[in-house]
Amino acid sequence: MNLILLGPPGSGKGTQAQMMIERYHVPQISTGDILRGAVKEKTPLGIEAKRYMDQGKLVPDEVVVGIVRDRLKVSDCNSGFILDGFPRTLPQAEALDSTLKEMERGIDHVVNIEMDKDELIKRLTGRRTCRRCGVMYHIIFDPPKKDGICDKCGGDLYQRDDDKEETIKARLQVYEKQTTPLIEYYRKRGALRSIDGMGEIKEIFQKIAKAIEL
Ligand code: AP5
Repeated sequence: MNLILLGPPGSGKGTQAQMMIERYHVPQISTGDILRGAVKEKTPLGIEAKRYMDQGKLVPDEVVVGIVRDRLKVSDCNSGFILDGFPRTLPQAEALDSTLKEMERGIDHVVNIEMDKDELIKRLTGRRTCRRCGVMYHIIFDPPKKDGICDKCGGDLYQRDDDKEETIKARLQVYEKQTTPLIEYYRKRGALRSIDGMGEIKEIFQKIAKAIEL
């Protein structure tokens, strides 16, 4: 299964990817997580990426394309992958096509999660992530049993730097302008599976499973 998760910030790509890993046993490739890892480690890539991420802008295409190209060549991707947050621009989609062609592979499904803008802001301002294991929560919709503590590993929960309301608005504008053209790009190929992202987490997962297991 070679799959792309497309959708605006807060639409639940990361949440659904975590559930898909368990069901389909393929790795999640989240460019956002890889970049945040580099920011945390203060690598040259992280220092450069942080300047864009803090403003809600996209990191330059050549940087993320290189990251994904290398990651797809790791052996755990042999049985498939879930791309979460990539591609986000037409040049990224074209670069992905040529990388996959070189590898004699292709994309099976592009799951496009559709959402209301107001709901996205609520989801992002309430998101909390475990510093240790990366599991995600929401202070209202999916709270941990103990405030600020991860149910799975006991790690501290933190709020992402780019989940401030002003930065969220910038991210949503960037999505509209730079990423929505990909919907048409993949629709034309017959790969697009659009899913209503409003509703319970498990209910959305069932809709995705139904769309891709047909
Ligand atoms: P990235 O980390 O990819 O962020 P994003 O696309 O903005 O998406 P999010 O992670 O914010 O949301 P999500 O859709 O995964 O939702 P989630 O499941 O967390 O990118 C961050 C930055 O990195 C970018 O701005 C850019 O600078 C850079 N970057 C990354 N990739 C790049 C690329 N390809 N090119 C250039 N730059 C790139 O859910 C959100 C919250 O809602 C959670 O709290 C969750 O618990 C809750 N929730 C989820 N589903 C539901 C539900 N059904 N009901 C109620 N609550 C729910």
